[in-house]
Amino acid sequence: MAVVSSAHSAIFSKASLFHHINGFKRFTFCLPFSSSAAASLSTKKKWRQPVASSVLELGGTKIAKDDVVRDDPTNNVPDTIFSKLGMQLHRRNNHPLGILKNGIYEYFDTNYPNMFDKFDDLCPIVSVKQNFDDVLVPADHVSRSYNDTYYVDSQTVLRCHTSAHQAELLRGGHTHFLVTGDVYRRDSIDSTHYPVFHQMEGVRVFTPESWEGSGLDPTSFAADDLKKSLEGLAHHLFGAVEMRWIDAYFPFTNPSYELEIYFKEKWMEVLGCGVMEQEILKSNGRSDSVAWAFGLGLERLAMVLFDIPDIRLFWSNDERFTSQFSKGQMGVKFKPFSKYPPCYKDMSFWISESFTENNLCEVIRGIAGDLVEEVTLIDNFTNKKGMTSHCYRIAYRSMERSLTDEEINDLQWNVREQVQNKLNVVLR
Ligand code: PHE
Repeated sequence: MAVVSSAHSAIFSKASLFHHINGFKRFTFCLPFSSSAAASLSTKKKWRQPVASSVLELGGTKIAKDDVVRDDPTNNVPDTIFSKLGMQLHRRNNHPLGILKNGIYEYFDTNYPNMFDKFDDLCPIVSVKQNFDDVLVPADHVSRSYNDTYYVDSQTVLRCHTSAHQAELLRGGHTHFLVTGDVYRRDSIDSTHYPVFHQMEGVRVFTPESWEGSGLDPTSFAADDLKKSLEGLAHHLFGAVEMRWIDAYFPFTNPSYELEIYFKEKWMEVLGCGVMEQEILKSNGRSDSVAWAFGLGLERLAMVLFDIPDIRLFWSNDERFTSQFSKGQMGVKFKPFSKYPPCYKDMSFWISESFTENNLCEVIRGIAGDLVEEVTLIDNFTNKKGMTSHCYRIAYRSMERSLTDEEINDLQWNVREQVQNKLNVVLR
């Protein structure tokens, strides 16, 4: 899987299911998106009066737990995800994500003084329209599925990318902006994937006088400027690092590209970008303009910059992690405090038609939380009767301490029980 986020899979570079089945587009995974006045207005209307205790304030909107987590077939937000809302790691100046956000601000402020408007407190609860329709995600695109996205109800989601704020900000008259926020995606489990991660979206709009006289058509002009700006950013953040541009597909840009960085012997996708589809500009009052847009995954970039080996660490409150980072100190290398041993447990079951790996991973995370490091499919076969068996290896490991056998056995028993009960599979 690839990211644009924490190390995340860029579900938007996955072509729509339709395209995928027909083999027209490449199917990749990559990284990790937020809201303004318009969004909070729309959410304000929707949310019931919050009840005391667990009320959060998100981008100026008050949200209660039962606004977000409901026992209703149109809702698939578990408690574990609710508990991450409002944490806003990207707003902590001593946290690697906050330090990185500020480092990127610094690049844009130095190279484009007073040009980019910055948003980092837009409400992560957005409409299906904002998250998908406004950025031209087709009705049959895989990213819209309940398997990939957290739905609060049939018309409301936890944003799965910061691109959800493009349209409203354009309509609000912004022509240069950076939007940083937590984004949410159902996904598999490994060291670079976590169901909540952070993205920064950048958009720059050009009016005709910018490209007239350049000798270039508006699209090539914007694409050149985009690549130059992002290469400059990569240079500012990393100095010398191996990187490459890959042609990509996103519903909202054309042409589209991904930037990959070489990290721990692998190419890792760190951002998706491209020239904004003209239709988005047109629908939002900018028919005469062209624009570029990018969405970068903060965790993935921070893993490379700070040498952070596992995405779960970003959520750690352990002083041995938090004390290693301070405001303005970009690229300080993380010193692992000790590597505790992993413990592997295998489980095999006959799957049902509705089985998905994302559902399995959510059940496991619901029980083991951040003690689960990786879930890998190690065996897969279909017997003569047409029944399919999967065997998964679960790696349990704490970042902070040694786990006891007893503790792991308890977790594994719980996992087995709930996988059987909730996923409609037959354990073998
Ligand atoms: N929203 C895309 C993602 O999350 C990234 C992207 C943003 C790509 C803007 C192009 C332009 O995968």
